[in-house]
Amino acid sequence: MIKTNYHLPVLLQPSVTALITDPNGIYVDATFGGGGHSRQILQQLGPQGRLFAFDQDADAVSNVPEDDRFTFIEANFRDIERYLKLYGVTTIHGVLADFGVSSHQFDAKERGFSIRFDGPLDMRMDQTASKSAIDIVNAYSLEELTQLFKLYGEVKGAYRVAEQIVATRQHQKIETTFALIEAVRSLIPERFLNKTLAQIFQAIRIEVNDELSVIKDLLLASARVLASEGRLVCISYHSLEDRLVKHFIREGVFEGAAPQDFYGNRHLPFKKRGGMVAPDAKEIEKNKRARSAKMRIAEKR
Ligand SMILES: C[S@@+](CC[C@H](N)C(=O)[O-])C[C@H]1O[C@@H](n2cnc3c(N)ncnc32)[C@H](O)[C@@H]1O
Repeated sequence: MIKTNYHLPVLLQPSVTALITDPNGIYVDATFGGGGHSRQILQQLGPQGRLFAFDQDADAVSNVPEDDRFTFIEANFRDIERYLKLYGVTTIHGVLADFGVSSHQFDAKERGFSIRFDGPLDMRMDQTASKSAIDIVNAYSLEELTQLFKLYGEVKGAYRVAEQIVATRQHQKIETTFALIEAVRSLIPERFLNKTLAQIFQAIRIEVNDELSVIKDLLLASARVLASEGRLVCISYHSLEDRLVKHFIREGVFEGAAPQDFYGNRHLPFKKRGGMVAPDAKEIEKNKRARSAKMRIAEKR
């Protein structure tokens, strides 16, 4: 049964069209979630096509379609190569990654992702992971929290927010989303409250799930497992993700320029296909979570 309220897929048709070059090829949906993209991929695949889908959240299992061409792998996409090898797959034709959190995860108050609901400070996508938001908020030093809010949330007044958290937890452990909000709200002007809280939550979530380094691992692995002319399709929801993807497609590394050999040849695993693609006004009207989406497409050389 398809659960439409689990997650509404973003840029569905353009992403899947960009992904599939051979309907009988092998594809990976790195972020299965509600399975919207996977179902569309299956629709466009031929009888010999295969799709491997990853999600580290056990909740996603309930969306798995019954289809012989499909395999669900409950794991972090950073280990994509290792899992594909278990299935005897060493080369694939396309990888789709739709980063971040699903609507289901945001809307489940017991997961602690949203500033709208009171729940445990959790924020783990993988519910078996050892580190949750509680550990970060209550154990990171003032300096670590400040850095986190600056780098991952671009939070204005990061130091003061961190200082307030450290002062609050000296009296009482901060264990819930609303306790965290209560701890910092007096620092933030009312008109910036929601935006700043969202930035603080985003920063903690990125740290809990190590989101930037897993994206780096996925991009590096894609460069190794994709066949020549295979496609990499990435949908990002904030500038930290998009910057990584954009730079990697252009330079094949995450910082600076592509390495050159003795003759000055640049080693570039990908060439970009077209520019950044964003949802149109109609899609954003139907799905406000699509408004920050940016899709980039690359072809393996
Ligand atoms: C934006 S949702 C994807 C929605 C999906 N495209 C759909 O159509 O329903 C992102 C999903 O990817 C999963 N995810 C995020 N990072 C992951 C990672 N490093 N490894 C495995 N799954 C991940 C999340 O648990 C979440 O279910």
